[in-house]
Amino acid sequence: MPGLNPARTVLADTGILWLRLAVLYLIVGVGMGIMMGASENFTLRPVHAHVNLLGWATMALAGLIYCVFPAAGNTRLGRLHFWLANLSLPVMSVALALVLHGQRQLIPVLAIGEIVAALSILAFAANIFLNLGKD
Ligand code: HEM
Repeated sequence: MPGLNPARTVLADTGILWLRLAVLYLIVGVGMGIMMGASENFTLRPVHAHVNLLGWATMALAGLIYCVFPAAGNTRLGRLHFWLANLSLPVMSVALALVLHGQRQLIPVLAIGEIVAALSILAFAANIFLNLGKD
């Protein structure tokens, strides 16, 4: 687009990527909600809640923040936040679903997923405190 600073566009893409991934989690989370309602089987309720709240709500909020403050999304902490969050949530969600279905031997995998998810939140918080508004 004429007049658009290309460096800034690349930086802003980080926030857009977060938003695109968040909306994919929303589709999965809402799909699970509909399946639970239709089948009247609510076993996966905690997975549904975490996919919607960590996957959709938290990631969409991060995406909006990184759209408003693009430089923060591209720092080392921003990239660490991205990878920790997006690697942990699928592991955590699948492990939680299987544990809820009785595969208790997967509890250590679930615990690792949860710890990495918590570390992603710490990276997010550190990024917000250290790098926000440096654009
Ligand atoms: C069309 C969309 C959705 C449908 C059909 C749906 C369906 C459901 C159902 C059937 C339950 C279980 C209710 C029960 O056990 O009595 C539930 C629980 C829940 N949902 Fe959704 N949901 C939807 C969207 C969302 C969204 C967008 C969020 C969050 C951003 C969300 C967060 C939660 C939470 C926190 C619980 C409680 C989990 C628990 O008690 O362990 N849901 N939902």
